Amino acid sequence: MDFIVKSGLPEKQRTACVVVAVFEPRRLSEAGEKLDQASGGRISSIIKRGDMEGRLGQVLLLHNLKGVMCDRVLLVGCGREREFGDRNYRKVIETVIKTLHDTGSMEAVAYLPELNVKGRSLRWKLTQFVIDTNNALYRFDELKSKKETVRRPLRKLILAVPSRRDLTEGEHAVLEGMAIAEGMRLTKDLANLPGNICTPAHLAEQAVRMADEYDSMRAEVLDEAQMEELGMGALLSVAKGSEQPAKLIVLEYRGADEGDKPIVLVGKGLTFDAGGISLKPAQHMDEMKYDMCGGAAVLGTLKAVAELELPLNVVGIVPSAENLPDGKANKPGDIVTSMSGQTIEILNTDAEGRLILCDALTYAERFNPEVVIDIATLTGACVIALGREASGLLGNHSPLVNDLLGAGRESGDRAWELPLFEEYQDQLKSNFADMANVGGREAGAITAAAFLSRFTKKFRWAHLDIAGTAWISGDKKGATGRPVPLLTRYLVDRAEELEHH
Ligand code: BES
Ligand code: MN
Ligand code: ZN
Repeated sequence: MDFIVKSGLPEKQRTACVVVAVFEPRRLSEAGEKLDQASGGRISSIIKRGDMEGRLGQVLLLHNLKGVMCDRVLLVGCGREREFGDRNYRKVIETVIKTLHDTGSMEAVAYLPELNVKGRSLRWKLTQFVIDTNNALYRFDELKSKKETVRRPLRKLILAVPSRRDLTEGEHAVLEGMAIAEGMRLTKDLANLPGNICTPAHLAEQAVRMADEYDSMRAEVLDEAQMEELGMGALLSVAKGSEQPAKLIVLEYRGADEGDKPIVLVGKGLTFDAGGISLKPAQHMDEMKYDMCGGAAVLGTLKAVAELELPLNVVGIVPSAENLPDGKANKPGDIVTSMSGQTIEILNTDAEGRLILCDALTYAERFNPEVVIDIATLTGACVIALGREASGLLGNHSPLVNDLLGAGRESGDRAWELPLFEEYQDQLKSNFADMANVGGREAGAITAAAFLSRFTKKFRWAHLDIAGTAWISGDKKGATGRPVPLLTRYLVDRAEELEHH
């Protein structure tokens, strides 16, 4: 999809379709008024007849209007103007894109970014338009033998801005949106692949490929022997029940001076989580192919960063393994020694994410990080606590947590903080090892983070539990690409902050 930013009169656009808003009740937007005047009041007379109230999500496609240069005009209902915020703006984009794609307009000029969206800048409106367009058109049909084809698909979108002075900023916003959308696409594609294809080796190969593609990136993949050498007993123990060897994927992006401390992203890359000997119930177990969404989001974010050539150093670390039951698998009661030297009693083999993450977090120390952020589909408890709207966020450094909360609000890819009081550590006591890998039923998302916090004492750290936000269940099952928007926004903000100093 091509995006172009342009300023100009709606009646003068020589294109397949011009898109304008109608607010409830029956009120044309500014661009709509101009079209109406040029067409001698045709649009307002159609609206008066009652064909378009302006309710959110309504659409009306008009053909052959006199006095305007486009083939069609698409009126889209935007609801009440004073209720027009993020949520309605984004719904309108989705409706518009699906309608255009379905009705033969291969190109369109949208007069939507100039609408007033509560509290949002032009930059935000354009970036979001590009992201939501890509989301609306996303299909995962790699593994269908017959692909659905659209005879006249939408190919080019022209986003209208109020004035010529907005063009430079507008183009920049579009590029940012495209980079984020590409990162999300990579994340979704990897996540939607099934466990028999997307193995730890496959994930590693994607990282190596990405490093080949960008001069700014370098990949390294550690195999089991190298991890053994490093003493990663916790990570390796998870892979023991699987035929698929574990990998530790390290992807380094260099956009700043060699000496600049990197931001390190650590993503859980469990390519399938059956629970191990503590086997999960059969229902919905297929969804555990998504247990690598944290890792996929790290790769997706690094892609966006490389596309944007951000002046930062960023390191991605993805511990990757498969958690299956087997004669060789971890058993409840087993005790393993992590790379940090701390011992762990595995009371539940299904709490495997923290076992692979803890060694990856210890490994992160060698990069002398500015901050470390881990991203993981870590607990069902987080889904119970926050549902599918917000990712769980916990950390040991409140400025970092606040920056991430802000990036979540800014990108609409929101996170919500949970407490990490010292008292929660008591739930991880073990009679036989330094700690247990589970802390009981209560506060499950928090005790998982409390476990990780024992491996992050040497740096500023935050943890995003994306178990509820990384994919959608039910008949629209699929990966969401979150939290690539949040993470990219955080990194763009860091880069802009540096520029201003
Ligand atoms: N990958 C799961 C977490 C998960 C569950 C994500 C459901 C998305 C939806 C994780 O490895 C896991 O199994 N966690 C256990 C931890 C428990 C044994 C302490 C859980 O949440 O049940
Ligand atoms: Mn598990
Ligand atoms: Zn898991």
